[in-house]
Amino acid sequence: MDKSEAFWDSSADNYDKTEERFEYIHRKSRKNARKHLANRETVLDYGCGTGTTACELSNEVKQIHAIDISSKMIELAKEKAAAANIGNVSFAQGDIFDEEYKFESFDAILAFNMLHTVPDPQAVMQRIYELLKPEGLVITVTPCLRDKLSFLISLQIKLVQVLCSIGVIPVPIRRLKSNDLDDLMGNGNFQITDSEKLFAGASSYFVVGKKMRES
Ligand SMILES: C[S@@+](CC[C@H](N)C(=O)[O-])C[C@H]1O[C@@H](n2cnc3c(N)ncnc32)[C@H](O)[C@@H]1O
Repeated sequence: MDKSEAFWDSSADNYDKTEERFEYIHRKSRKNARKHLANRETVLDYGCGTGTTACELSNEVKQIHAIDISSKMIELAKEKAAAANIGNVSFAQGDIFDEEYKFESFDAILAFNMLHTVPDPQAVMQRIYELLKPEGLVITVTPCLRDKLSFLISLQIKLVQVLCSIGVIPVPIRRLKSNDLDDLMGNGNFQITDSEKLFAGASSYFVVGKKMRES
C-alpha cells in the first residue's frame, strides 16, 4: 500500500465528522452539481471519499460509479449506500488511470475536494478528457489554498504544510489559486460553463468544464 492510500485509510473513520464544519460547502457543491446532471446518464465520482456525494446525487442520474484509492473510504461508502437502500451507485477501490475505464464512457465526472491532492492535476484532467463522452462535463470543487483564506483556515493550512514538510501527511497538498483551476480547464480543452467561489473564508471554488473537440 502506498503512503497516500494509507493516509486516506487512516482519515476515513473520522472523515464525515471532520467535514461537518464544511457542510455548507458540501451542500452548495451538490446543489450546484444537480443543475448540471439533468439528462446525464453515467457519472464517475473520482475520489468519492465516504460516498456522501454519490449517494445524495444518485436520484439525479441513471448510474454513478464512485472510486477512491482508499479501501477504507470505499468500505464506509458501501455501508452508507446499503443503509440508504441506494441501488444505482457502485463503489470500487481504484484510480482513474486504471485500464478498465473505457474512453468516452461517462457523461459527467465529479472531482470534489481532491484535485489539490493528486500528484499531477494536468495528467488527471487529460485522463478525465479521455473518459468523457463528447460534450461531457467535468464538475469540480477545489479548496484554493493560495486564494484569500479566513484567519482560522490559514492557520490550519500552515499546520498542514508543516505536517506535509515533516512527512506526517504524505500527500502533496497543492496550494492552488482559482485561476489555476481555470487554466487547467482551458489547457485541457474544456470550456468553462459555470464557476462560483462557494465560500470565501475557505476559498472553495466550484467550476464546471464541457469537453470540447481537441484543438
Ligand atoms: C478530501 S477527500 C474528498 C472526498 C469527497 N470527494 C468529498 O468531497 O468529500 C479526498 C479523497 O480523494 C481520494 N483520492 C486521493 N487521491 C486519489 C487518487 N489518485 N485516486 C482516487 N482517489 C483519490 C482520497 O482517498 C480521499 O477519499
